[in-house]
Amino acid sequence: MYQSKIAGVGKYVPENVVTNNDLAEMMDTNDAWIQERTGIKERRHIKDGDGNSTAIMGVKAAKIALERAKVKKDDIDLIVFATLSPDYYFPGCGVQVQEMLDIKTCPALDVRNQCSGFIYGLSTADQFIKTGMYKNILVIGSENHSGGLDFTTRGRSVSVIFGDGAGAVVLTRSDNKEQGILSTHLHSEGKHALELSLKGPSTEHWVPEIIAENPQGDDIPYYPYMNGQFVFKNAVVRFSEVIMEGLKANNLEVKDIDMLIPHQANLRISQFIQQKFKLSNEQVYNNIQKYGNTTAASIPIALCEAWENDKIKAGDKVVLAAFGSGFTWASAVISW
Ligand code: UT7
Repeated sequence: MYQSKIAGVGKYVPENVVTNNDLAEMMDTNDAWIQERTGIKERRHIKDGDGNSTAIMGVKAAKIALERAKVKKDDIDLIVFATLSPDYYFPGCGVQVQEMLDIKTCPALDVRNQCSGFIYGLSTADQFIKTGMYKNILVIGSENHSGGLDFTTRGRSVSVIFGDGAGAVVLTRSDNKEQGILSTHLHSEGKHALELSLKGPSTEHWVPEIIAENPQGDDIPYYPYMNGQFVFKNAVVRFSEVIMEGLKANNLEVKDIDMLIPHQANLRISQFIQQKFKLSNEQVYNNIQKYGNTTAASIPIALCEAWENDKIKAGDKVVLAAFGSGFTWASAVISW
């Protein structure tokens, strides 16, 4: 069995900053409500003409991760791309990255596990490295949420939360058994699939049917739906469980966590977990205040930013944890 380690991290967010007050000009919302309920002050949105897309932002983050990892593009054996907002219905963004990075015909795999997508992707990459099949894998999480949200008052409970951006890591084979991805833990519970979902366009809800069913444009199934309080209640339980599962698998205790990077769903969820586990501010990294919830990109963006700010050092025990649509939830325990 080989070991895998994160050799480089990168992130990219669009330049265009959208504040809560900017949103209040488009819909009936306000800065106080958004900050109180979510902790978010601003987020980034792709702007028409800025040349960004989900795949393009993923490439920008990936280039930084590759440079920091000192891995050449042609040494990448696999691309894993996690997103819920791909540029196309099909094909997935992975093949676009292969083309845009001008990598020879390497495999490209797309992961559709929404907020847990990055950890699902990291876990998949980890298995390929541990079995010895591949040496260098690019794992990307990227989202263009702003292209698919309802920015009228009807959509306010969802659209104020989400932001655009991308994060990436290069996972490489390592000889040091003490360092790298120690374990990953993945779960799903499909009975709650529609509690946080976007029904169409899909083979169940194709465009002409959607228009025929919704002549007034009400209850449009091609905008995301979230049963906020139900998702919140499940999130705090599953986050706690999956963090404990990861610690237990490695004979670690809560006090051994040097850095917890929770998926940035809601600052109140992160704070609940922090208080429950009695973690200090130094042990938990949050940046939802600046970027909103960037779904599959939130963990690699936060991981990258924490690393850039010297908050993660060699040997640190870093725990990643996510919960979201599916429901799916996941954790990864890393010795940095
Ligand atoms: O990333 C995937 C995982 N996602 C999550 O874990 C998110 C989990 N859920 C949440 O974060 C929270 O449930 C939300 C932030 C989505 C909503 O917060 P909440 O405290 O659960 O509010 P609510 O949905 O119960 O709405 C409270 C009130 C409602 O008005 P009434 O019925 O009390 O008169 C809403 O209509 O707030 C209203 N409201 C808004 N008001 C101003 C909903 N959205 C807005 C808004 N601005 N943007």
